[in-house]
Amino acid sequence: METTTQSPIASITEIGRHEGQSVTIRGWLYNKRESGKLIFPIFRDGTGVIQGVVPKNQVTSEVFDALKSLTDESSVIVTGKVRADKRAPGGYELDVSDVKVVQRVPEDDPFPIARKEHGPDFLMENRHLWMRTPRQAAILRVRAEIIRAARNFFDERGFTLTDPPILTPAACEGTTTLFPVDYFEEQAFLTQSGQLYIEATAMALGKVYSFGPTFRAEKSKTRRHLTEFWMVEPEVAYAELNDIMELAENFISHIVQSVIAHRRSDLETIGRDVTKIENIKPPFPRITYDDAVKMLEEGHAKGQLETKFEWGGDFGAPDETYISSQFDRPVMVHRYPAQVKAFYMEPDPQRPELALCVDVLAPEGYGEIIGGSQRIGDYSLLRKRIQEHDLPESAFKWYLDLRKYGGVPHAGFGMGIERAVAWICGLEHVRETIPFARTLTRIYP
Ligand code: 4AD
Ligand code: MG
Repeated sequence: METTTQSPIASITEIGRHEGQSVTIRGWLYNKRESGKLIFPIFRDGTGVIQGVVPKNQVTSEVFDALKSLTDESSVIVTGKVRADKRAPGGYELDVSDVKVVQRVPEDDPFPIARKEHGPDFLMENRHLWMRTPRQAAILRVRAEIIRAARNFFDERGFTLTDPPILTPAACEGTTTLFPVDYFEEQAFLTQSGQLYIEATAMALGKVYSFGPTFRAEKSKTRRHLTEFWMVEPEVAYAELNDIMELAENFISHIVQSVIAHRRSDLETIGRDVTKIENIKPPFPRITYDDAVKMLEEGHAKGQLETKFEWGGDFGAPDETYISSQFDRPVMVHRYPAQVKAFYMEPDPQRPELALCVDVLAPEGYGEIIGGSQRIGDYSLLRKRIQEHDLPESAFKWYLDLRKYGGVPHAGFGMGIERAVAWICGLEHVRETIPFARTLTRIYP
């Protein structure tokens, strides 16, 4: 695109490199303040915001008038000299010399997201515009950093990225949350997890991971559930439960520390208390399901939990919140009763009613961010479980083959990106962690 002058195009986040020089910024008018013969337009370009200073007697009347009447979110190409200013939010201000309005937002139909409080429904209905506001943009940048850090973690440790299919013939995580798809007159489903397929790629490549969208027809309207979310899943041949618990604590710590190192200013924009996540480093506490149940019983006795938890059930949100609030870093709860977990989990040889599995619960009430397990190794046991869970055996023939042709102990886990973003950013709800959230009640925009 043509620019107004010969000044180099700069991004706001790197504006400090151009101190004392004239630069051109291509972006939007975020907001402006006026005081008499001075305009203070605030520009944003997707990387950050910077305040401009426009004294009437130092610019042409065209420039002054164009900015004076400019509506929020109009697109502009603006040129000016970069000046360090300690009081400015990013440390710099722009002495504006020229401006070109690319598209003007109509006065009688202004940008719908005003600088006032809106309800969540209104904001979600206008998600395509809401995401332009600094806090939402910062969350999306942290999300991107979490994904980058997750992929780096595995890439640097000898894992091969293998992409599982999204259209699948059968369930991975139970049949109640499947999204059906008409596949040329055959019944198919959107994948709930890539796990079963990366078990196959792990037998081919040793250490693998997948990163992709997963789908669950969740009927629950909670702050933790989406119907479409992104999962990163490692799977490791010859690994047992302890190995993937160690992998999980190193993985989470790496992600948190990468975000703090590379996106600290975004965390500040979001309003995150960084001291709450700074000490996320291995080792994480490890407790058994039995220990966790004892903890819940104590909580109930002390009057801190309303309902009494019965051994054998799955934890609800208040239970997870209570357990995780006892620790200052994520806690790994292992060996749940097999009856509340998926069909593919290896039983504990000491107590076969337990599964060799782990849930990682994030602190501050965020609950489960990782679910993982060792997988059943024995052909006949796996076949029995498929039958017990009423799963169509024909669709799992290939999966059973993995136990027939060179089966080995293996294990892995899955982390939901959105839950990780919500926790690391300290957000109320996962709907803000993904550009366009899909929930029980929303598929627009
Ligand atoms: O615990 P889950 O169901 O585990 C699996 O899918 C395994 N197959 C993973 C594996 O072992 N490879 O889901 C894993 C994670 C959860 O801990 C949570 O972070 C996220 O996926 N998750 C959701 N995130 C948002 N909305 C939902 N409805 C989610 N369901 C699960
Ligand atoms: Mg789970």
